[in-house]
Amino acid sequence: MERFYIETWGCQMNELDSQRMAGQLMQQGLLPTRELKLADLILLNSCSVREKAAQKSYSRLGEYRLLKRERSNLRIGFCGCVAQQEGEQALRRNPDIDFVVGTGRVGEIGSVIERSRRGERVLAVGFPEERPYDFEAVSRDTVHKGMVTIIEGCDKRCTFCVVPNTRGPERCRPLAEILREVEHLIEYGFVEVELLGQTVNHWREPSPPLGSGRPLDFADLLNEVAVLPGLKRLRFVTSYPRDFTDGMVAAVAGHANISPYLHLPVQSGSNRVLRRMGRGYTVEEYLALVARLRAARDGLALSTDLIVGFPGETDEDFRRTLELVETVRFASVFAFKYSPRPNTAAIRLPAADEVPREVADERLQHVFTAQSVIQRELNEELVGRKFDLLVTGWSRRPGHQAGRTDCHRIVHFPVEGEPLRAGALTRIRTLDAYDHSLLGELVDGLA
Ligand code: SAH
Ligand code: F3S
Repeated sequence: MERFYIETWGCQMNELDSQRMAGQLMQQGLLPTRELKLADLILLNSCSVREKAAQKSYSRLGEYRLLKRERSNLRIGFCGCVAQQEGEQALRRNPDIDFVVGTGRVGEIGSVIERSRRGERVLAVGFPEERPYDFEAVSRDTVHKGMVTIIEGCDKRCTFCVVPNTRGPERCRPLAEILREVEHLIEYGFVEVELLGQTVNHWREPSPPLGSGRPLDFADLLNEVAVLPGLKRLRFVTSYPRDFTDGMVAAVAGHANISPYLHLPVQSGSNRVLRRMGRGYTVEEYLALVARLRAARDGLALSTDLIVGFPGETDEDFRRTLELVETVRFASVFAFKYSPRPNTAAIRLPAADEVPREVADERLQHVFTAQSVIQRELNEELVGRKFDLLVTGWSRRPGHQAGRTDCHRIVHFPVEGEPLRAGALTRIRTLDAYDHSLLGELVDGLA
């Protein structure tokens, strides 16, 4: 029996792609393994969003190569965003790679492996994805939530971002297909469904029938999905601030099962930097959207992405970013140091604009320090309350499991008796707050 091992880096889209590849391999009779040394086939699903991540995938490839020295029948597949970007070069430069599968070719993994078995070194990259996406053939058993891609790729051109190159042009899936997949996930037993897209709220019904009036948009989609019987929690990532309409705000306000926790990447608190990033909104517009969302939905929490050290970012620009962090009081901030990426507009900015590494490091540290205080305070406000908790699995604390509240906070709780299965819903009372999570205890009765 052949066994496969998949290593996944990067975002939810890569996670879902790995689930899709695993499902197709299992259909072919291959078995999954968590033990590298038992694997006959290794798939490395790579991330290219920052240089560190891309480098990591190369160093992992190097380690896999050594394994291949000992086991000549081991096959190595290079997949994901770096694979898509490098294409043929990856095959040429790495004689130990057996095949390369880009992000738009995930649905072809089965035939790629068959060809590889016959001795061909297969290169499968490019867009668009040609085959219909078979959502039955996704291995979802290891995860607590069901993920559904509603929009692929990205047509925005944020000047720092490599994603439009690695994930291709924007493609929307038809509403009918999305609804069928969500229904399938509810039937499967998922409590939470997460809609995915690089700019998830830019979804439009592709090719609407002629004369049908206004094409359906993401607000309509939310209104259709949220009312599907049995759907307890609905989340979506990542929303693009400029594309967040009043209709979408109303949908978030109108459906209690839409999680009151939105990811809304702002990237910078300085209009000058936002302009150079090509984001298409101002800080004032972003704050106005935050205000509209908070007015519409009680207790709404927000998370964001920030980049520090973008070329030309001054102390004053950075001060504005810190100010924004203090003003909005995000429940969580993902802050990154700017990393120059191939074939993006920002790498052509003048070298004189480069922010010294020590300065960027210091700014990053500043954000973390400011944010951890805010997060701790926000988490403390949640102590002593009861929540329905979606169990995500084991916690790093010995003897504890962890889960997510409907407002997406992580809560650890001591296991009593039988551990709960990932994906189950339970009820907890929160006892203590930390920077990134809370501690709780199991109590009776779901809301
Ligand atoms: N589609 C999402 C983001 C995709 S990339 C959006 O609209 O925001 C995820 C995050 O990685 C980005 O929000 C950004 O903060 C960060 N990121 C992307 N490219 C980067 C780069 N070159 N250097 C540092 N961080 C980057
Ligand atoms: Fe990247 Fe901007 Fe698209 S951050 S994924 S180019 S919205």
